[in-house]
Amino acid sequence: MVATVAAGGPDSAARCRRRQPYATRRTSFYANLRPQLYRLIESETVDPVRNPYAPGAGQRPPELAGRDRELQQFEVVLERVARGRPERSMIITGLRGVGKTVLLNAFRSMAIQRLWGTGKIEARPDQSIRRPVASALHMAVRELAPRHRAPDRIEGFLGVLKAFAQAGEEPAGRTAKARAHRWQPGIDVPAARGRADSGDLEIDLTELFVDAASVATDVGAGIALFVDEMQDIPADDVSALCAACHELSQNGGPLIVVGAGLPHLPAVLSASKSYSERLFRYARIDRLDRDSADVALLAPAEREDVTFTKDALDALYGAADGYPYFVQAYAKVVWDVAPDTPITADDIKVAAPEAESELAVGFFGSRYERATPAERDYMRAMAMLGDEGDTPVSTASVADELGRKPSSLSPARDGLIKKGLIFSAERGLVAFTVPHFGKFLRSQPA
Ligand SMILES: Nc1ncnc2c1ncn2[C@@H]1O[C@H](COP(=O)(O)OP(=O)(O)O)[C@@H](O)[C@H]1O
Ligand SMILES: [Mg+2]
Repeated sequence: MVATVAAGGPDSAARCRRRQPYATRRTSFYANLRPQLYRLIESETVDPVRNPYAPGAGQRPPELAGRDRELQQFEVVLERVARGRPERSMIITGLRGVGKTVLLNAFRSMAIQRLWGTGKIEARPDQSIRRPVASALHMAVRELAPRHRAPDRIEGFLGVLKAFAQAGEEPAGRTAKARAHRWQPGIDVPAARGRADSGDLEIDLTELFVDAASVATDVGAGIALFVDEMQDIPADDVSALCAACHELSQNGGPLIVVGAGLPHLPAVLSASKSYSERLFRYARIDRLDRDSADVALLAPAEREDVTFTKDALDALYGAADGYPYFVQAYAKVVWDVAPDTPITADDIKVAAPEAESELAVGFFGSRYERATPAERDYMRAMAMLGDEGDTPVSTASVADELGRKPSSLSPARDGLIKKGLIFSAERGLVAFTVPHFGKFLRSQPA
């Protein structure tokens, strides 16, 4: 039998209190009896196997806390569209890690529950949305198809969809390379002609949306197309997408585009089409308030018969500052560290360094590494000028701080915007897209 005792260190003592039992002959006897004794043993401990928390991009949280208002708003959107009422679609904006992707996925589940067809894309800089949109609508219509009484209507639509997707391909589609990149949608019907295949995305999207909406009308449902990281859609495509949504909102078809993106997304959309403000209802999501953050922590724990002391909740709110990603990250480590329920403020103290170093690598570091040396200098200057709350700083003051001419810094600034590390919601101002990023940079050695 191998006796393993965790090596010393400030945080190992607490772990030993729980983990040590696995190391002795006597407790391995209990471990073998565990299936029978499960309830007796486990009800007293905080079992790492049952750790409910889920830090990670797009990870579904064990409890979606503090988003009731947005969920209700979306319910209304779905209901109004279903009744053919004029309705603006919804766009969620916020910093990284506030839960946009997770909320978008929750919206999608709501649409699926209503038996709508749904599809989702994640926009990327420099990538046209033509093919991703084609795949997403293909999926949405496939969900509706079994309920459709006229298979030839579905086939007709799929022909248009195929033509739409292929219209974006290089005309030199005869070369082997181009053929290899041909869209392989698994659509057996031949591509239609004369609809959604002009090559002009605005015209083609409009026609495609109108046709998709009419298939949905046939089965008495709707279609929802979800677009994550919407700020990354290339400028021409954004303008085409807005135009298609505009057209659709006028003829009342039951198809909506629901987006999520960084805080400057409304500015991106209105720069592209001035009427976009009337097209979308923007919902900015942010840190969770104290009550919601407590719910995010307590509800999943209590389902496992574990709770937190009030001091522990205070300490966690202080550390995570209500940001959902941080809430999950701290809670995950604290759970593993805590020997017993209730989890205490001391457990949080023990867990904090590990949680912080995980965030430094996984949340902050992975993003920082994407930046070039010049871009890093730019962000460091921003951090030096910034405050605790990461309020936007002026580009002129960044130039001052670096002792450079503002124009010479445009490439660094534009590069950072493109990489999604900073954003500019207002002319002449820049801010970090990642909460606490300034604080993180200030804590790093130069
Ligand atoms: N309402 C919420 N309550 C609790 N945790 C949440 C909530 N929303 C998101 N999270 C958690 O926050 C993290 C980031 O969520 P994500 O949707 O990826 O954020 P974003 O898309 O805004 O960057 C995930 O670990 C997720 O589980
Ligand atoms: Mg996201």
